[in-house]
Amino acid sequence: MTALSIGALLHEGKAKRVHATDRPDVAAVEYKDDATAFNALKKASLPGKGALNCRISALLFEHLAGRGVPTHFLGVLDELWMVVRPVRVIPVEVVVRNIAAGSLCRQLPLEAGTPLDPPLIDLYYKDDALGDPLLSEARLERLELVSAEQLATMRDLALTVNRELRELFAAVGLELVDFKIELGFDAEGRILLADEISPDTCRLWDRATADQQERILDKDRFRQDLGGVIEAYGEVLKRVQGVCPPPRVYG
Ligand code: TMP
Repeated sequence: MTALSIGALLHEGKAKRVHATDRPDVAAVEYKDDATAFNALKKASLPGKGALNCRISALLFEHLAGRGVPTHFLGVLDELWMVVRPVRVIPVEVVVRNIAAGSLCRQLPLEAGTPLDPPLIDLYYKDDALGDPLLSEARLERLELVSAEQLATMRDLALTVNRELRELFAAVGLELVDFKIELGFDAEGRILLADEISPDTCRLWDRATADQQERILDKDRFRQDLGGVIEAYGEVLKRVQGVCPPPRVYG
């Protein structure tokens, strides 16, 4: 690794660990092979997932940074680690949906595969104990987590990320069905794109495959016990790195 030394564990999530470093304005994120679904009711270890998601996230953060999206990404360290700007994560998961799938189809009379134009933005309160409940605007306001202006910034960023990633994935034959992002405040109070963007947090369908199961190249393969999870993530990486420059190496 570089001269950066990894310090105390700051936070352990289901798929990543965040560590302090010897530099106060720099944190390090380790991607784990653990996979969970349905609020961790379903768990497995998928060897190779951490490295794939670290690489895919790095490529996507780098691509988005190049398109003017402020992100926490500072560079990759090695195959499992990336270096980021520490942020205070806003406990709101922002989901953008271009095509109806997943929970949307369980909760509303919408058939899977229905195009959503304009894209639908759903906000969830990030709290495992409460099962990440869907928020209404009124509930979000009541929680006083963000101002109206900050919420507008979050929505704008989510739509920009959607536009840029849809275009990028389309160029490599992938349909960006939906995705989840998390945002956080940096030391200066700016809102940055944080967490990860990977097949764990996106739905991606292979445009060249009509079969409704075969086309799935994301964590739905794990959620639905379809097998071939690592192969699918590997295919996403192969396609994305075919059109994106290698991500910055930290240090
Ligand atoms: P959903 O259909 O379960 O609401 O998921 C929408 C998108 O958000 C999908 O791309 C998967 C992603 N997601 C996460 O990244 N983390 C989560 O905890 C959940 C529930 C969904």
